[in-house]
Amino acid sequence: MSGVLPLTPTLSPQTGSKQSPRPALAGRGENPRQREGEGSRSFVIAIDGPAASGKGTLACRLADRLGFAHLDTGALYRATAFLVLDPGGDPADPETAARAARRIDRQLLADPRLRGEVVAAAASTVAAIPAVRRALLELQRNFAAHPPAPAQGAILDGRDIGSVVCPAADVKLFVTASAEERARRRLEELRQRGATAIFEDVLQDLKERDARDTERRAAPLTAAPDAIVIDTTTLDADAVFKRAYNLIARALKEKEWKQ
Ligand code: CDP
Repeated sequence: MSGVLPLTPTLSPQTGSKQSPRPALAGRGENPRQREGEGSRSFVIAIDGPAASGKGTLACRLADRLGFAHLDTGALYRATAFLVLDPGGDPADPETAARAARRIDRQLLADPRLRGEVVAAAASTVAAIPAVRRALLELQRNFAAHPPAPAQGAILDGRDIGSVVCPAADVKLFVTASAEERARRRLEELRQRGATAIFEDVLQDLKERDARDTERRAAPLTAAPDAIVIDTTTLDADAVFKRAYNLIARALKEKEWKQ
């Protein structure tokens, strides 16, 4: 796929802080697998969940703490939608959308224009098109397997990471919350960015997007059978982080013991 190679080495709008001294738990020095001459393997964390469930915030914080690279895969679908909408295209048209998916570049992934709710709704339309998902699959897998240096691991957040993109991920989390709580958080986020929005509209948009994401045939939103579900309805960001970090710390330790 032509779009994959130029993007892969630096494709990380939210790569874990480059200032992070070392991955806090990735092996205190060299990776044990490297010691044994097996070559290094990336430690992959998959975080899935519905819109505004807090998975993006969690993924960023974990990436910072662990020194892992982070890929917000939702940005890929948002960028695809944006490239279709901008010249007045139809996000439901498979050819237009698939062409757009192949034209994404990394500057666009960090563009604030991707964050609006119109783009979000169109993102869930293009995301239901199998040719779009195919166009983005290799890129995501490549990022997981070869995160940008010096990261020894990758965190991908999205809808189908644990189920389709990285079914062999080392840790799979499914982060969820009630629709009302998610709408409250999204409203807050929108207001902080200076947008005017009404709770009922935000809730309605989220529910419609959840339904499209869950009911589509191509890689629907789902918790992988081996994912650990974290319901964040009554948890603040710190509590969610603590819970996730402890789970990951345990998994990292276990993997090292097995070396
Ligand atoms: O930030 P928020 O949770 O609202 O959405 P997002 O993660 O930016 O994703 C936007 C849309 O992209 C979702 O509603 C999905 O339709 C789609 N998406 C997907 O299908 N698969 C992914 N791995 C990530 C996002």
